[in-house]
Amino acid sequence: MTQQKTLNIGLIGCGFMGRTHSNGYQRIRNFFPELEYKPVLHTVCARNGEKAKAFAEQWGYANYVTDWKKIIEDDSIDAVDICTPNDTHAEIAIAAAAKGKMVLCEKPLARTLEESRKMVEAIEKAGVANTVWYNYRRIPAVTLAKQIIDSGKLGRIFHFRANFLQDWTINAKLPQGGEGLWRMDADVAGSGVTGDLLSHCIDTALWLNGSISNVTAMTETFVKERMHQLTGKVQEVKIDDACAFLCRFNNGSLGLFESTRYARGHKALYTFEINGENASIRWDLHDLNRLEYFDNADDSTLRGWRSIHVTDGEQPYMDKWWVPGLGIGYEHSFVHQVADFLRSLETGAPCSPTFREAYETQAVCEAVLDSAASGAWKDVPKA
Ligand SMILES: NC(=O)c1ccc[n+]([C@@H]2O[C@H](COP(=O)([O-])OP(=O)(O)OC[C@H]3O[C@@H](n4cnc5c(N)ncnc54)[C@H](O)[C@@H]3O)[C@@H](O)[C@H]2O)c1
Repeated sequence: MTQQKTLNIGLIGCGFMGRTHSNGYQRIRNFFPELEYKPVLHTVCARNGEKAKAFAEQWGYANYVTDWKKIIEDDSIDAVDICTPNDTHAEIAIAAAAKGKMVLCEKPLARTLEESRKMVEAIEKAGVANTVWYNYRRIPAVTLAKQIIDSGKLGRIFHFRANFLQDWTINAKLPQGGEGLWRMDADVAGSGVTGDLLSHCIDTALWLNGSISNVTAMTETFVKERMHQLTGKVQEVKIDDACAFLCRFNNGSLGLFESTRYARGHKALYTFEINGENASIRWDLHDLNRLEYFDNADDSTLRGWRSIHVTDGEQPYMDKWWVPGLGIGYEHSFVHQVADFLRSLETGAPCSPTFREAYETQAVCEAVLDSAASGAWKDVPKA
C-alpha cells in the first residue's frame, strides 16, 4: 500500500451535505487505497453542541465545535469543508483561504456573483487547493458522457436540454426560512431553483458543451407570501419557484433549461439530452447507472437508442466498486469527488470544478435572473 499522508478535515454543517461528505471521506480508505492522502475526520461544527456531539460520534469525528471560526483557527486542520447554507459560504471560504487552508465548498458557490468574485480572489490569492461540490459530474454515466463528447463521436452539437424538477413546495402552508427551509428564504439562499437546481444543470452543461454566451429567461413565484419560521410573520417570498431559460453556447448550439419545485410527482428528476450531428446522448438521475446513446452510424436495421449500463470496470470509476452489472448510487458521486480532490493534491492539477469554474456557473445564474427580471436577453458576465 502507498505511504499515506493525512489530511485533517474540518467540516462545517451537519445536515444533508454534512452526511454525504462524511460518508465520502469514510469510504476512501477502502475503495481508493492507492491514494497518497488519507482524509481524517478531525473536527465537525454545528451551532448546537448536542447536535455536533451526536454527529461527531455517529460519523467518527475526533472533535466537535459550535463556532466555525474554531475550525479556521485550528492549525492542525488542513482542509475546510463548507456544508452550510449559501449565505455562509463566502465568509467561511474567505476566512479559511486567508489562513492557508484548502477549501471544499458546497454549491452554489455563493448567493451572488459579487460574493463569488470575492471568494475566487481570496482563494487564488492564497493559492490553496479548492473545489466546489457539483457532484453530478462524477456519476460514472455522466463522466462517460463527457468522454464520448470529447472523443468527437457526436460531431457538431446542435442542442443541449436539461430539466431539474421537484414538487416539495407546492403546499402554500409550507413556511419559509429557518432550519430545513432556508432554501425558501432569498436572503439565505440567494435565489430559488436557479441557484439551487439549475446551477447543477449549468455546471454539467458548461463541462460537457462549453461556455454560454447569452440567455433569455422567465421565472415565477407561485406562492407570493409565506410565514417565516424565524420571525413568525407572513412575508413576501422572494425566491424563484420555477425558472426556464433559453441560451446560446459559444460552440453554436442552443440550450433549453427548466427547473421547478411545482412539478407534481417529481422529487428530483434531473435529466439532460445532447443532440449532435452524428449521435445523441441522454441521462436521467432516476436511472443514474444508465446512459442512453444513439449513433446514426449504426446499421440502419439495428439503429436505435442504446441503453448502456455503466457498470463495467473500463467505464469511469467503476473499477473501484463491485463487478460488472452491479450498480452504484447517488452517494458514490461524493466519494468520487473526495477521491479526485485527494488525487489532485498528489498531481498538483486542479480539482474541477474549482472556485473559478463555479464562478462561471454563477455568472450564468446571474444572467438568467437578470434576464427574467428585465425580460431582455442578457450576456453572461465575463470573469
Ligand atoms: N451537491 C449537492 O447536490 C447538494 C445537495 C444539497 C445541498 N447542497 C448545498 O449544500 C449546502 C447545505 O445544504 P444542506 O442540504 O446540507 O442543508 P441542511 O439544511 O440539510 O444543512 C445545513 C446545516 O448547516 C447548519 N448551519 C447553518 N448555519 C451554520 C453555521 N453558521 N455554523 C454551523 N452550522 C450551520 C444547519 O444547522 C444545518 O445543520 C447548501 O449550500 C446547498 O446548496 C448541495
